[in-house]
Amino acid sequence: MTSITTIASPLDINTKVDVKNRLFKSAMSEQLADAQNAPTEKLIRLYRAWAQGGAGLLVTGNVMVDRNALGEPRNVVLDELSDLAKFKLWAEASSENGTQVWMQLNHPGKQVPSFLSKAPVAPSAVPLAGGMESAFACPRALTETEILEIIKRFAWVSARAKECGFTGVQIHSAHGYLVNQFLSPHQNRRDDQWGGNLENRMRFLLEIYRAIRAAVGNDFPVGVKLNSADFQKGGFDETDSIEVIKVLQEEGIDLVEISGGNYETPSMVGDGVSESTLKREAYFLDYAEKAQKIMSVPLVVTGGFRSAAAMNGAIQTGAADMIGLARPLALDPALPNKLIADDAHAMQLPKLSTGIKALDTLAMLEITWYEHQLERIGKGKQPKPKLSTWISVLKTFCSLGTVAFQKRRA
Ligand SMILES: Cc1cc2nc3c(=O)[nH]c(=O)nc-3n(C[C@H](O)[C@H](O)[C@H](O)COP(=O)(O)O)c2cc1C
Repeated sequence: MTSITTIASPLDINTKVDVKNRLFKSAMSEQLADAQNAPTEKLIRLYRAWAQGGAGLLVTGNVMVDRNALGEPRNVVLDELSDLAKFKLWAEASSENGTQVWMQLNHPGKQVPSFLSKAPVAPSAVPLAGGMESAFACPRALTETEILEIIKRFAWVSARAKECGFTGVQIHSAHGYLVNQFLSPHQNRRDDQWGGNLENRMRFLLEIYRAIRAAVGNDFPVGVKLNSADFQKGGFDETDSIEVIKVLQEEGIDLVEISGGNYETPSMVGDGVSESTLKREAYFLDYAEKAQKIMSVPLVVTGGFRSAAAMNGAIQTGAADMIGLARPLALDPALPNKLIADDAHAMQLPKLSTGIKALDTLAMLEITWYEHQLERIGKGKQPKPKLSTWISVLKTFCSLGTVAFQKRRA
């Protein structure tokens, strides 16, 4: 008898780890670090709730590899100043219930609000456009010495993550952050070995992967979150994305998660995605089907999944090997248990708006509202799906001051 693969089926990742099911908690920046950017009790409580909630694999919110380059004020940073004991407690709580926990590693590059840095770095001095110029300072181009230093940091942090009990790492190469900036011909205008043709533009990602692999050994899973496309004129596109996956697979990557967009084109949270795609739930399924033709490692598809039916459909057609979930898990950490128990289970997310579009964009409501839900879980409270968007905007204002009312996205 042949058994049908569902979201409940276990998955062997490159013969390195067995994940108990196909539900993958995608990274969500929690903004729950302390003033030293270390993990807090709230963060640990949040991850314990997710581990108990039944997902097979949890990816942490982005952990920054350089404390001088934060995307948000309360990001977790892992560096020489970090108290590793706190990271060990975080990994321990996240691994309860037989759960895998991978640390997502990130450098924001130019996607740093100007209240955090007046001098961000990027492959090239290309400012963010589309009305974001006033909220984000124009970056300066990295020198080769700095590029090599950042590569080393990714590797160093990976080795510490392993030491602290995380069971894998994920390189954040999507959503317009530094690694994605190198991949994009629009953002990367360099004429040295780090820019120009795709081989050069992917060198930064490849060297990060190689340095990490050398630091953690062959048995430790290393994954990547990659854009299917930036959805931006002259940006990283699907053809580039497929090529990058091919090369990473040859090099030994263990898992690829796909998403799309950046701060200028936030398709990762469904912005600009067509009604028909939204109805079908998954934003990047067409691309996933193309990518599957060349995949030799598991492919995670993230963005838009809301029902067990759509998730099982994507697994059964072979478009996805795992289902990435973010916002639904901020409203129900136990959602994976429910999806597995009931194949008719589905979750509707509220349409978020204060009624004033400019304010929604300015306060980055789609992210901050969910971060407030994460904070509630971190405090031991229930999420509040009816949380007023106005309260969320007010809380954002109070915690960060008016500077927070500048565009920023995940
Ligand atoms: C509050 C919040 C924070 C996020 N932070 C990150 C992050 O740190 N790294 C990342 O790769 N994606 C981040 N994302 C994007 C999610 O991982 C995911 O790609 C996106 O929300 C679409 O999935 P969903 O429809 O299941 O929410 C974030 C999303 C939200 C809502």
